[in-house]
Amino acid sequence: MVDLIALEKEFLSSHIKEGGVAVDFTMGNGHDTAWLSKAVGENGRVYAFDVQEKALESTRETLKAENCPDNCSLILDSHSNVLDYVKEKICVGVFNLGYLPGSGNKALTTLRPTTKKAVEAAISLLDKDAIILIAVYPGHEEGRLEGEMLDEMLQGYDRRKLCVSKFKLVNSPTSPFFFAIESK
Ligand SMILES: C[S@@+](CC[C@H](N)C(=O)[O-])C[C@H]1O[C@@H](n2cnc3c(N)ncnc32)[C@H](O)[C@@H]1O
Repeated sequence: MVDLIALEKEFLSSHIKEGGVAVDFTMGNGHDTAWLSKAVGENGRVYAFDVQEKALESTRETLKAENCPDNCSLILDSHSNVLDYVKEKICVGVFNLGYLPGSGNKALTTLRPTTKKAVEAAISLLDKDAIILIAVYPGHEEGRLEGEMLDEMLQGYDRRKLCVSKFKLVNSPTSPFFFAIESK
């Protein structure tokens, strides 16, 4: 059986660089932030965004529990403002769209206008041989619409500069899926 999470990690591992700069666009409980932090190592940098203070608190605990290097900037702001904070080229960007797992507040979900702006900004920050991975959750209405919006938007990029692929279980339309955007 295809394991989408293992596949995501394979994609990320083939682009992440020790000493590189990575961005977690949807920090949540910090599991992706911790993975990125260890992967870029103490000479690297991770910028992580969330609009909920609760996510920053939870991520601080995750980073501590996982003994991550001191290389993360946790930012309480929308990922759509990423260009105000990140001035370097990035080797990896991760979006895990939707709402904070276990928070009970599904209203604080990612939304199409800000997701679009953030993905466009993320693409503008990509270094050579870099990747943006976007996990989409079509099991809720805004997630389904975000997936459709991204599908349409990403078709417009020049394939000589970016390779955009989508990994989806075709016989399970409400299961999560992901886009991989790789720079040449
Ligand atoms: C599915 S969760 C991320 C899970 C996370 N990757 C983890 O490891 O726990 C999505 C997160 O995106 C956050 N979010 C929603 N809108 C956002 C925005 N405009 N900018 C940044 N984060 C946002 C939510 O608060 C939520 O914590």
